[in-house]
Amino acid sequence: MSIEDENDVHALRRVGAIVAAARDTMGARVVPGITTGELDAIGAAVLAAHGARSAPKLAYGFPGHTCISVNDELAHGIPSADRVLEEGDLVNIDVSAELDGYWADTGASFAVGRVSAKASALLAATRRALAEAMNEARAGARLHNIGRAVERRARKAGFRVVRDLCGHGVGRHIHEEPQVSNVFDARDPAVLTEGLVITIEPFLTTGATRFVEDDDGWTLRTPDGTLGAQFEHTFIVTRGAPIVLT
Ligand code: CO
Ligand code: CO
Repeated sequence: MSIEDENDVHALRRVGAIVAAARDTMGARVVPGITTGELDAIGAAVLAAHGARSAPKLAYGFPGHTCISVNDELAHGIPSADRVLEEGDLVNIDVSAELDGYWADTGASFAVGRVSAKASALLAATRRALAEAMNEARAGARLHNIGRAVERRARKAGFRVVRDLCGHGVGRHIHEEPQVSNVFDARDPAVLTEGLVITIEPFLTTGATRFVEDDDGWTLRTPDGTLGAQFEHTFIVTRGAPIVLT
């Protein structure tokens, strides 16, 4: 969507703050021994306390309130009472929700206890890729500068980008136009406009540039077992710095 009035901004700020609170509350509980089902219940409670509804459940019938993806899982991991987090794992928590007809989406990857130097570097590089890409997201700038920034950070850090997982427009639904690619396409003429609401969500890995879908019909993972990480914010494009909602 594109912002039309102050009410849009207020409503997006409200739902953005809720998904951010769920992400951070869940992230603070990431320790060896907790299950992804327990983490999901924590996130569900935050959403419910504010009257927000889980976006993946509402829009797609996802079997969880939040998506929790471990190690080589990149996205749409199904929370489970049987999935126990272990020291050294990487876990991605993605929370998106709807409130009063407005939608917001956020994600972050977390280390479970002590992780390898490589895993730790992957987290840092992916977080930095998001920050650097957001710096490129200004009204009047080319959309493809975002993918270029993500690719540059990945290359400098010695990691790879999953090509077909993208950020997206958001606001009046969970997934709207445009697609916000994490790779550079010189031929893409799209220009960012003032008031546009989008997410950026780089997916970096220690090797893979593709993903495969599990037999469960949801979980996306690297084909070769390499580790992945993702960070995501919803924000409003302005002529200056983006207005971060999450
Ligand atoms: Co998300
Ligand atoms: Co998203």
